[in-house]
Amino acid sequence: MQNFVFDNKTKIIFGKDQEQVVGEESVVYGKKLLLHYGGGSIKESGLYDSVLNSLKEQGIEVIELGGVKPNPRVTLVREGVELCKKHDIDFILSVGGGSVIDSAKAIAAGAKYEGDVWDFFTGEAVVEDCLPTGVVLTIPAAGSESSAGTVVTNENGDYKRAFGHITLRPQFAILNPELTYTLPAYQTAAGVTDMMAHILERYFTNEKNVELTDRLCEATLRTIINNAHTVLEDPTNYAARAEIMWSGTIAHNDLLNTGRIGDWGSHDIEHELSGIYDITHGAGLAIIFPAWMKYVYKHDIHLFAQFANRVWGVEIDLNNPEKTALAGIKKTEEFFSSIGMPVTLREENIDDDHFEEMARKATERGPLGNFIKLYEEDVYNIYQLAK
Ligand code: NZQ
Ligand code: ZN
Repeated sequence: MQNFVFDNKTKIIFGKDQEQVVGEESVVYGKKLLLHYGGGSIKESGLYDSVLNSLKEQGIEVIELGGVKPNPRVTLVREGVELCKKHDIDFILSVGGGSVIDSAKAIAAGAKYEGDVWDFFTGEAVVEDCLPTGVVLTIPAAGSESSAGTVVTNENGDYKRAFGHITLRPQFAILNPELTYTLPAYQTAAGVTDMMAHILERYFTNEKNVELTDRLCEATLRTIINNAHTVLEDPTNYAARAEIMWSGTIAHNDLLNTGRIGDWGSHDIEHELSGIYDITHGAGLAIIFPAWMKYVYKHDIHLFAQFANRVWGVEIDLNNPEKTALAGIKKTEEFFSSIGMPVTLREENIDDDHFEEMARKATERGPLGNFIKLYEEDVYNIYQLAK
């Protein structure tokens, strides 16, 4: 097990009606707030009104910036940075999913920086300070509500890039599973896939003697798998929505990363797809992750067989562990398909036109992944496997 520091400051406020405390939680950070949200789901559900009431009750002045698109764009981030500087904003509240939260985190960093916010994504600048942020989460998926990262797309060149810094972790995240009842099935399934991918990225490690985190990863994966079909068939099932929502945070708050080094190659390969084709992140992962697994499993057949056995209940074939490993990959792919996710690029109408370009862009800052280092040719081969 590697040495580690686990430092996740995000206060989680979980359960029914908890969005009503958002005013009290926010006022701690000041009286001028930027309210950031997406394309309208929070207005339709009535969440916008209840959040606004709670903020007004605390005498908080609210400046609004809506319109965040899935795969958030740097143009809106720049607008947010200007608003924060102009109005001397104290605190940014995101009401929405990963896209809104990521956009808010980038604004929070840009608001304390003189240059262009994209500098953080290219590595030209490093965050030293940022505005505090808080979250009312409406979709369990990206785990951004307590992660230290943000992912934003630059429309100029179709680059989707990430950066991370510990100060980006939100101060608090309010998780009311009832707020996820209105999610379309496709978004629910994409969220399930994304959170599973966050665990799988950590699970496939070269680190030995990490039994506790192996088991925590497996338990969280099994919880997600056990509840996914229930939330799809019965969207207002509180118990199942609650399990999925809490799993989404646990999957990505870095607890499951302790003592081990994750891979993250599949995420980087997927980000090129989202950058060019603007596809839903979770759907992209349902396509890329099984292809990555097929490409790398021989590197540690034992770990893949363990995964097949403990997560999917595949009996270990001691004479042929490769068979067990492959059965686990097949189960993963079948599961994504069963919840309505695409598992091939064809299903998203993506042909091989941009494979070379995506493989080059994905590796232009060096090879991807840690389980196995992936070079341009490997990434290209994985796109081929995902066809
Ligand atoms: O914009 P609105 O109208 O709110 O609609 C959204 C959006 O269309 C809708 N939605 C959200 N909550 C809803 C709802 N519709 C009805 N009822 C609700 N309760 O869902 C759509 C998707 O929202 P989005 O925020 O894009 O989803 P998600 O949370 O999956 O975020 C995806 C983004 O997060 C990034 C991804 O790359 C992607 O850009 N990621 C961020 C990470 C991080 N910061 O740590 C890690 C992840 O690996 C991921 O890369
Ligand atoms: Zn993800």
